[in-house]
Amino acid sequence: MTIQIPAAGRRGMASQAGMNFQEISELEKRVLVPTYDRLPILAVGGEGCYLYDEAGKKYLDFLAGLAVNSLGYAHPEIMAVLRDERETLLHVSNLLYHRYQAPLAAELARLTGLDRAFFANSGTEAVEGALKLARAYARKRHPGEPFERYEILAVENSFHGRTFGALAATWPSKYRQPFEPLVPGVRFVRQNDVAHLVESFGPRTAAVIVEVIQGEGGVVELREDFLKAAQELSRANDSLLVADEIQCGLGRTGRWFAFQKFGISPDVVLVAKPLAAGLPLAAIVAREAVAQAFSPGMHGTTFGGGPLQCRLALKVLEILGRPGFLARVSEVGGYLRRRLEELKQEFPVIRTVRGEGLMVAAELGAPCKAVVRQALEAGVLLNCTQEKVLRFLPPLVVERQHVEELLRVLKPILAALSAPPAEASAEKKEVPA
Ligand SMILES: Cc1ncc(COP(=O)(O)O)c(C=O)c1O
Repeated sequence: MTIQIPAAGRRGMASQAGMNFQEISELEKRVLVPTYDRLPILAVGGEGCYLYDEAGKKYLDFLAGLAVNSLGYAHPEIMAVLRDERETLLHVSNLLYHRYQAPLAAELARLTGLDRAFFANSGTEAVEGALKLARAYARKRHPGEPFERYEILAVENSFHGRTFGALAATWPSKYRQPFEPLVPGVRFVRQNDVAHLVESFGPRTAAVIVEVIQGEGGVVELREDFLKAAQELSRANDSLLVADEIQCGLGRTGRWFAFQKFGISPDVVLVAKPLAAGLPLAAIVAREAVAQAFSPGMHGTTFGGGPLQCRLALKVLEILGRPGFLARVSEVGGYLRRRLEELKQEFPVIRTVRGEGLMVAAELGAPCKAVVRQALEAGVLLNCTQEKVLRFLPPLVVERQHVEELLRVLKPILAALSAPPAEASAEKKEVPA
């Protein structure tokens, strides 16, 4: 069967004509630092919720570049920004002004209910900056204290990034141990354990950092009482509550930010992944007094907040903010969860289904790496985290029909996993009634 590849897919293929999957993967094996265990596809183009490989095979994408490609591939308005020939600046450095950083900061401030933004390039860099900001704020506000406020409380099972500070606040020891000693002063609090939070919080605490929904941790939501306690303790001690919304923010849950479900107001909100439609851009958004803890020269970056990234981000925020966009994320996300719940009734290998909006997980009673491989063969791109958690992070423009397409592929795979092993069923038959 010949697959019709839309124009966007073909463009990608033409520009990368030359090396095929075999050649590229062999070259990578020789020349790349071996940090990634890639899925065996050579992506060359995409349109909407679909990716195309070099052979023209089409994949329904329920991974969205790890929650980055919120608007799918080749979104016409994003492509128009990229093609706008009136704009010639890709970079000017932060020594000059350009037209797009301030409007983007103003928009992020409006959406978060905070006041100022600092732009960085990646999630981990935003976390790093926030940890520095927490210490700077503590020193500025409490200069005469007989002890240093530098401790950070992070939550067990969280993921905040891979640079030394962010890594120190990241829970899984497999990421941390090879690089210890990390930045000192981070303590971990048990997930949703208010008593442990109260016990761990002290006068030295400079900040509590939370992922309202832990992404890498398996789509686990923190509870309202835990988040509210974190806010109350922080307010009472003049410490900061930092919401890492890098994965769960910017519309993914059907709200602008996951923290909004709980009526809390963090002092610092971190965003990254989908902000610039696929180009690297992150932001630390902070309330006024917190932002003022940094003065010129204390923090900075060469690339952060470049003109092209900021223009793209303004367009992303404009699109997400259109009437009905976020409501549709909730609606389709609810549909996805309901359909997975139905699948759970049918296939006991699914233990739980959870999530908000289009950040959804199905925890299995078996490892899910093989499920991901089989789904890929059948044309669906998925992710497995925490060994047994199938994580669904589709583009936010996904529709019910895509959910149905996903289910058609998942069903036979889960059915095979749920079937009792041949021997066990044979034994069963022998048991007298
Ligand atoms: C919640 C959260 N924080 C921070 C990060 C780190 O972001 P980056 O990979 O852009 O450094 C991630 C990445 O997955 C994340 O999910």
